Amino acid sequence: NETVRDAAADQLLNYMGGRKVTIPLTRGSGAPNPDRGNVLTVGPRGPILLQDVSFIEEMQHFDRERIPERVVHAKGGGAFGYFVVTNDITRYSKATVFSKIGKKTPIVVRFSTVIGESGSADTLRDPRGFAIKFYTDEGIWDLVGNNTPVFFVRDPLMFFSFIHSQKRNPVTHLRDYDMYWDFLSLRPESLMQVMILFSDRGIPDGFRHMSGYGSNTFKLVNEHNEAVYCKFHSRPVQGERNIPVDIAQKLAGSDPDYAIRDLYNYIAEGKFPSWNFYIQVMTFKEAEEFRWNPFDVTKIWPEDEFPLIEVGTFTLDKNPRNYFTDIEQAAFNPGNMVPGIEPSPDKMLQGRLFSYYDTHLHRLGTNHLQLPVNSPFRTHVFNTQRDGEMCYRDNQNGAPNYYPSSFVHMLNSKRARPPPFSTTGDVDRYDSSNDDNYSQPGMMWRNMTEGERMRLVNNLADHLRRASAFIQERQVGHIFKVDQRFGSLLETKLQAFSAI
Ligand code: HEM
Repeated sequence: NETVRDAAADQLLNYMGGRKVTIPLTRGSGAPNPDRGNVLTVGPRGPILLQDVSFIEEMQHFDRERIPERVVHAKGGGAFGYFVVTNDITRYSKATVFSKIGKKTPIVVRFSTVIGESGSADTLRDPRGFAIKFYTDEGIWDLVGNNTPVFFVRDPLMFFSFIHSQKRNPVTHLRDYDMYWDFLSLRPESLMQVMILFSDRGIPDGFRHMSGYGSNTFKLVNEHNEAVYCKFHSRPVQGERNIPVDIAQKLAGSDPDYAIRDLYNYIAEGKFPSWNFYIQVMTFKEAEEFRWNPFDVTKIWPEDEFPLIEVGTFTLDKNPRNYFTDIEQAAFNPGNMVPGIEPSPDKMLQGRLFSYYDTHLHRLGTNHLQLPVNSPFRTHVFNTQRDGEMCYRDNQNGAPNYYPSSFVHMLNSKRARPPPFSTTGDVDRYDSSNDDNYSQPGMMWRNMTEGERMRLVNNLADHLRRASAFIQERQVGHIFKVDQRFGSLLETKLQAFSAI
């Protein structure tokens, strides 16, 4: 815990490196700072002079230190590393990140909790974000996933209400069990994700013992412009490990930064966490014949039908040099794709494609892609975008800022052009809320051990019991449809709680 001396606790000692270095103080402008300790006053007791510009500058900079925290996934930690290809998947994708066995690509990964604010505890029951930024030689590819293969809702229009229902009540500013379970019980498409969340996997042991999933369905395209649908999976080489509820609760009080500390120290000790990276592949024909909608993010593709195909390994071997610049300012965007990786019709993914760049414009500003952590430093950016706040690079010097131009031959990339695909169907708003919400949760229940089932029932009951009775009843009704025994176990447990 936080009182132990470890690499994280020793950060400043390590910075000092055993000897006290003298560094002249300056203002932001680089000019020497006359006195950092005493404000400029008329006489020893004040008042202060407006001409103490170094004090005013210090205060003004402090006043603006915080940028908006992420609207979701605000609390997180991350590290740098690399991805290495171990198996040839060029028959599926022409993405250069996969081009040959042994190919190495630098990455940064950010892990997060979803609902809590930036200061919330790391060991709360919540899905975990698992976002990987690949600095490929054809630009940035961001795989912005979670530690769960599915999500709560399948229509992006439901996302905002879902998040609101999990966040704070606008009147009380408290997390609200009625809001939480009202929404979920009105949208039973959430059942599988709810079962994962309230199972042992709902509280992973730090960041390095959890699996990662792209969750959404993507499309891979090869050099011949042949396409398949695909899902991405990452499995921790360290093994999956979760924290028992009572320990997680204690840690939330004694070491709310448990996961960030664990990752930092592990890497600082030279023990680099790594994950094996896989894809699942589905042909267009299989997608047409699949008994579920393959683009429904509330459902998995069973691994016995669509086996994991090995792709590579990624390893985290470098802590951030500075948390704010490297992790807080990191901007992951599912819209950042590279030739060979494309979106599928997955509605949730399509919705996400707009959201992230938009929120980055708000959270970080117009030129956030120039920040070192977001910069596609392995490519040369050449486009017609110019200016905007915080433009600090060369602003593309004297190159024309319009297309086409007689002064430079601006080449479009044939490789990057997605193969044409056709779509049909009537434009409408399709209600997908009843699209088989129970079969896969039922499969999950049947695949659990008896111990896992009992813990799931306990965890669910202990949370759901705080919601109004009519909401509890509605949720239990759904659980009965997942599995009769699951329903009666939950009902009995809830009754036992209400008898207390
Ligand atoms: C973060 C929107 C669904 C994973 C965010 C952020 C927004 C957002 C606005 C904050 C980004 C930032 O400030 O940098 C949405 C919308 C969704 C959606 C509109 C659905 C329509 C999902 C799904 C997943 C996911 C399905 C997982 C499969 C993440 C992760 C982050 C994130 C991991 C944190 C990235 C980081 O570490 O910076 N999302 N999201 N989101 N979202 Fe989503």
